[in-house]
Amino acid sequence: MKGAFPVEKFKDVRTPFYYYDTKVLRETLNTVNKEAAKYEKFSVHYAVKANANHKVLSIIRESGLGADCVSGGEIRAAVKAGIPANKIVFAGVGKADWEINLGLEYGIFCFNVESIPELEIINELAGVQGKVANVAFRINPNVGAHTHANITTGLAENKFGISMGDMDKVIDVALTMSNIKFVGLHFHIGSQILDMSDFVALCNRVNELQEKLFARQIIVEHINVGGGLGIDYKHPNRQSIPDFAAYFATYAQHLKLRPRQTVHFELGRAIVGQCGSLISRVLYVKQGTNKQFAVLDAGMTDLIRPALYQAFHKIENISSEEPVEAYDVVGPICESSDVFGKAIDLNKVKRGDLIALRSAGAYGEIMASTYNCRELPQGYTSEEFI
Ligand code: LLP
Repeated sequence: MKGAFPVEKFKDVRTPFYYYDTKVLRETLNTVNKEAAKYEKFSVHYAVKANANHKVLSIIRESGLGADCVSGGEIRAAVKAGIPANKIVFAGVGKADWEINLGLEYGIFCFNVESIPELEIINELAGVQGKVANVAFRINPNVGAHTHANITTGLAENKFGISMGDMDKVIDVALTMSNIKFVGLHFHIGSQILDMSDFVALCNRVNELQEKLFARQIIVEHINVGGGLGIDYKHPNRQSIPDFAAYFATYAQHLKLRPRQTVHFELGRAIVGQCGSLISRVLYVKQGTNKQFAVLDAGMTDLIRPALYQAFHKIENISSEEPVEAYDVVGPICESSDVFGKAIDLNKVKRGDLIALRSAGAYGEIMASTYNCRELPQGYTSEEFI
């Protein structure tokens, strides 16, 4: 056992694979529930897009969280894991008819709607099924988040949401529709946010919009503020559980709620990020002109975040205690961007060593691809190695 990894038990397991430490996951879920419960009307949904592994989802379901889904496939995965349909919200800028029908058939809690054309189709399909669909409007709050450009979503130039200026018009349309019940507002400003002032900016914007609605004598039942709380990629052991206390307190302090309003959260990365690692074997140690490479059997097909977002994942040699040397850690894919890290200090590496890429529980396994005709990595929980 090195660190938290049962290295001995990994010997005969085909690599690369995802390893989920259920102790970390359960502790994280307990903390989320404990901190959210301090506020009477806070309701947390897990953003399934971060990780839809069935074993992980089942543990999340045990904790009682709802689900935030962005496709029919995610709705199916959530239902299969036992998450009740009345705790599922369904978002996404391009919902296909079959996906809307699926949501209606299951009787999900709410559709987060992003345009009038989408609203019209939901109204029509709900009519065919003889149902009334709960909808929340996703409003683009034009709030920037201090995060990577590819994962900021709340600026006016993003494709997401309805602009603030169009909010009244969209609500007017909804109020005329017989198979639509307008129940809430939805927001999401981006992901991997660590600066609480970004969430404060969102709260201020929500408050402004609520004032506008109040002037029209409209009080919505549900305010959904999305997700986005980040994790500490540099120090996965030092802070394996994100600061949920500060996160929820920020909303409690800055959101001006009306009586009986529920606040919904859609957290993905903060819930599953730190429990997962990608475990890989070293195929070769290759000498370059003035550096050495550790060539892994995992590549960008297994964990695309470094290639796609220049994301940092801590890399550890979990099968060596030898003195540290510097390596460029690369994968086997035929792309120059298939690099996990440059000049990384690792305990001296040899062929066959096991390498852990940490903090990979969110947007890791779920974003894997079969490029180069590779197999998808398997995902195992720590309970399978006991
Ligand atoms: N709600 C909405 C509407 C979202 O778009 C997202 C993430 C979430 C909730 C969950 O956000 P989280 O709590 O995980 O930050 N693949 C990228 C992240 C993309 C996030 C997309 N939306 C990455 O690997 O960093």
